[in-house]
Amino acid sequence: MTTTITIRRPDDWHVHLRDDAMLQGVASYTARQFARAIVMPNLTPPITTVEAASAYRDRIMAALPDGAAFEPLMTCYLTDNLDPEEVRRGFEAGVFTAAKLYPAGATTNSDSGVTDVAKIRGVLEVMAEIGMVLCVHGEVTAADIDIFDREAVFIEQVLKPLIAEIPSLKVVFEHITTQDAVRFVEAAPANVAATITPQHLHINRNAMLVGGMRPHAYCLPVAKRELHRLALRRAATSGLPKFFLGTDSAPHTRSAKESACGCAGIFNAPFALESYLAVFEAEEALEQFEGFASLHGPAFYGLPVNEEAITLEKRDTGVPETVDAGGEQLVPFHAGQTLGWTFAG
Ligand code: NCD
Ligand code: ZN
Repeated sequence: MTTTITIRRPDDWHVHLRDDAMLQGVASYTARQFARAIVMPNLTPPITTVEAASAYRDRIMAALPDGAAFEPLMTCYLTDNLDPEEVRRGFEAGVFTAAKLYPAGATTNSDSGVTDVAKIRGVLEVMAEIGMVLCVHGEVTAADIDIFDREAVFIEQVLKPLIAEIPSLKVVFEHITTQDAVRFVEAAPANVAATITPQHLHINRNAMLVGGMRPHAYCLPVAKRELHRLALRRAATSGLPKFFLGTDSAPHTRSAKESACGCAGIFNAPFALESYLAVFEAEEALEQFEGFASLHGPAFYGLPVNEEAITLEKRDTGVPETVDAGGEQLVPFHAGQTLGWTFAG
């Protein structure tokens, strides 16, 4: 029986580190397990300039212990009227690694997102030209589309036309939640990839709704039916380089989650690797874990793989009911459960 797993240090290709006190509280959980992370720009106000991204990167590093071996990869929040030259300038200066497309109103702090992809055509053409990755929150926002259908409809209405119009653009379809998305990405050319979160591999929509409403299982895109979860598990463990790790760890205070209008977002950073590895073990695909966690992402982004290694040991980790994040109590994913692996550094 396998008792330890040693792989190149993984990266997290989608994380929310927030700002101020929350940033101070959560940054070290991500930096403990990952070498690099694609940091989401949905602050208030959002990160839309090179200067704002550069200052945010400095605040992230300042929130970590001196000498922490962690590299935040910054993203630019796309709006209807962002200047394509700002995106080019940030990419060429090494400040922006990717740009993020939030359909306006799709999720937390997305009010200044894009109302119509046609409006950012100029930016997307520049990105295709310079080889910069577009990260996409793939959900339509129309009130008449059922929330469980919003990802599948987005593929037809937005993603397929976008890829047909700008075929060389590198696109990461983020935090996919449906069999439709798996099939779409599998069939798409090599410049289209997807990230998968731990929660969408572990839970289906029952986790939110059976036996009471469970706000800590609520995130966007919302978890779907079991058949979709199974399709995601097959994709993540398939060894296909189009699928890689992106936690979408999205901390909100306990009171903001446990509310009449609870925020979307699951905080999974503290035990992210233990959570993913449980899936690979159950699917009898431990040999595919390093590709998903540490190799496919850098290959897609055109970045070097990490040289250092990390080890996980086959012994139980008890996930606490709450974790401390700079004095704020956050409820982590898997709170109160036991995971069969332990990150050993
Ligand atoms: C994210 C957040 O809280 O910023 N929430 C979430 O449910 N994933 C936003 C996002 O990535 O959709
Ligand atoms: Zn996110």
